[in-house]
Amino acid sequence: MCPPTYFDVVYAINPWMDLSVPVDRGRAVAQWEALRAAYEAHGHRVDVVDPVPGLPDMVYAANGGTVVGGKALAARFAFPQRQPEGAAYESWFATVGAERGLTSLGQASDTNEGEGDLLLAGDVLLAGTGFRTTRAAHEEAGRLLGVPVVTLELVDPRFYHLDTALAVLDTEGRSPRIAYYPGAFSPASRAVLAERYPDAILATEADAAVLGLNAVSDGRHVFLTDRATGMHAQLREHGYVPVGVDLSELLKGGGSVKCCTLELRPAGGPSAGAPTTTEVGA
Ligand code: ARG
Repeated sequence: MCPPTYFDVVYAINPWMDLSVPVDRGRAVAQWEALRAAYEAHGHRVDVVDPVPGLPDMVYAANGGTVVGGKALAARFAFPQRQPEGAAYESWFATVGAERGLTSLGQASDTNEGEGDLLLAGDVLLAGTGFRTTRAAHEEAGRLLGVPVVTLELVDPRFYHLDTALAVLDTEGRSPRIAYYPGAFSPASRAVLAERYPDAILATEADAAVLGLNAVSDGRHVFLTDRATGMHAQLREHGYVPVGVDLSELLKGGGSVKCCTLELRPAGGPSAGAPTTTEVGA
């Protein structure tokens, strides 16, 4: 996680960012601290990346890269305002990350916004495209991280990153459970999701529209905005324990819980050294 020390909305690169709405940075910091405390209270270790002045979106750590089986591929951002974040996260992977046993693969060569668009689901990488991460970057990430990739096309600008429209709820296993909002995807990608995940939880538009799918799950606890009340109920029905947090200030930049969280998957964990790379899907 990266604290929102320099968080602000000073440019608009997604439909959530409204330059006329002021940001309360003190409140953003308090909300972020509460999210961090919630993770720690549930037994998760949180590493903190140093924020960089002039990079107001660096708080959205999920975009900094993708880590699978101890291999860390740093991001290459679509918009110039965020581009320096790629090097900042890369240098974290190569220094502190290396002390944690991670191997840095450097920065992606194609536009790749990390876990914003690349979500590990069991032994495949679900990969979003349409607004930020390119199809060429999907191929590169799959090859370098050693995981098959399933490309999914996003079509609604409110859901410009895959992690705004889809949440992976089970971290392990061949057919993990996911939750998603079908309206965010092209018809072809909807068909791919329906076929691969017949047991998925389908989110309502109301829950998706408060970024209720921008969630982090440890397989039992699901950390998500307290505003997505329908999603909380659906999660409970499926045996999960929703942990609601208030990230209203960070929503002004177009992000919620998952955006603020980059998952560090160590070597030897699920999907480490997965076999061949193939690209399937829409
Ligand atoms: N303002 C940021 C952007 O538009 C928000 C990023 C949210 N992060 C995420 N993982 N969806 O790039």
